[in-house]
Amino acid sequence: MALRVVLLGATGVFGSRIASRLAGDARFALVFAGRHQASLEALREKLGDASVDVAELDVNHASLPDRLARLQPQLIIHTAGPFQGQDYRVAEACIACASDYIDLADGRVFVTGIERLQRRAKEAGRLVVAGASTVPALSSAVVDALRPRFRTLHSIEHAINPGNQTPRGDATVASILGYCGRPIRIWRAGRWNHAFGWMSGKPQVFPFGRRRVGVCEIPDLDLFPARYPEV
Ligand SMILES: NC(=O)c1ccc[n+]([C@@H]2O[C@H](COP(=O)([O-])OP(=O)(O)OC[C@H]3O[C@@H](n4cnc5c(N)ncnc54)[C@H](OP(=O)(O)O)[C@@H]3O)[C@@H](O)[C@H]2O)c1
Repeated sequence: MALRVVLLGATGVFGSRIASRLAGDARFALVFAGRHQASLEALREKLGDASVDVAELDVNHASLPDRLARLQPQLIIHTAGPFQGQDYRVAEACIACASDYIDLADGRVFVTGIERLQRRAKEAGRLVVAGASTVPALSSAVVDALRPRFRTLHSIEHAINPGNQTPRGDATVASILGYCGRPIRIWRAGRWNHAFGWMSGKPQVFPFGRRRVGVCEIPDLDLFPARYPEV
């Protein structure tokens, strides 16, 4: 039996990458979901998988729990950001309709706060995962992988350079500009300090050249001090 997967935000930059990896794979019965039927159908056509269902739905609409339940998902992949300022209605609807849930959230408060659903998810036998993307999932995986090379960790600094040629989704741009100039709590020199979004810029050497980086409000800022307490 194929796993029934609802991909929320399927037409977005990241949603469509996931869609293209899952389409045509017999292990998955896919539903592309988002606010615009025509663009969902166009994506299905482009990927050439006529077995994909499409569902028009808005995460902000009161009918969301009912509409998701009617799709009978076993897994919902939520990519419809920005997650900053979102509540947990999608994850809660997943638990209610006995589906697992995974999202790409990069919102600091959103990702750290998902913990509060864990008890309900566990009782329902469901998996609820937030932040399954570059941060904090890949970033912490990199630190974990490098960790054995060091006797102690004194500090962790990580920077991402997405490249100027990569497409930009509205939700990603809204996410990363939302904290521009705003105060950001950072664990530095053994105590909590403040920096400001996209400020404290400095040049960073990457394998492909020198780029300017700035401070971002991401879940790692809370999760790393807890996960790597010696830092
Ligand atoms: N954690 C990380 O490291 C990381 C990495 C990459 C991306 N992200 C996050 O992933 C999210 C997606 O990024 P993206 O660049 O793919 O954004 P995007 O291209 O703007 O895609 C957003 C998708 O969500 C849909 N959508 C928007 N509002 C909706 C609503 N109210 N109800 C249902 N669907 C809705 C959009 O389709 P319609 O407008 O047609 O509904 C679109 O398909 C962003 O929040 C970004 O910050 C996180």
